[in-house]
Amino acid sequence: MKDKMKIAVIASGRGSNFRALAEATLDEGYPAEIALLISDNPEAGALEYARDNGIESALIDCGPKRGSMSLESSEEMHRLCVEREVGLVCLAGFMRIVKGKLLVEYAGRMLNIHPALLPSFKGLHGQKQALDYGVTWSGCTVHFVDAGIDTGPIIIQKVVPVLGDDDEDTLSERILAEEHTAYPEAVRLYAAGRLKIEGRRVLISDE
Ligand code: GRF
Repeated sequence: MKDKMKIAVIASGRGSNFRALAEATLDEGYPAEIALLISDNPEAGALEYARDNGIESALIDCGPKRGSMSLESSEEMHRLCVEREVGLVCLAGFMRIVKGKLLVEYAGRMLNIHPALLPSFKGLHGQKQALDYGVTWSGCTVHFVDAGIDTGPIIIQKVVPVLGDDDEDTLSERILAEEHTAYPEAVRLYAAGRLKIEGRRVLISDE
């Protein structure tokens, strides 16, 4: 059997997408395995899940600036990933803009999941932005990471209805259920070598 692609997940919080990815990798035929979970937050649920499930984890101080990471922390993450021969970095609720060495060296090899149908409602609180705007459909997007905020080429989108009595919590929950299938699916496609970036478009080849 071909070697599985090693992935690193970077998460700041609850970690439900990390968990969905970790569970997907338990399937013998899944082409990727989790080599490392990185967090910038000692309280992250993702860290706890990693510890409870025997997944190597690293807590990295990314500096005091909210939403931004220090160049040193980017270098440190890059070093950890290279040491473990990580082929794909997955941002899963990492609450800082990635920059520096990690961004440069993992260009085209880094994914993110966003809780809205990009290019609408980028940045924080995508679900609330969608609700406030009054759209009747929203969803989630898995995309490659570039230097912008939620701007990289799109791999997969899943759509959910926005219902009349939705609030931020109910809409977020409906979107999250789709995130948990979209992210493992996108990683599966990447790890199987089936994605090709052409300009802004991501082409998916047959198996
Ligand atoms: C998700 O809604 C994801 O789309 C966004 O941050 C949230 C992370 O949730 N980027 P979790 O930590 O994976 O549960």
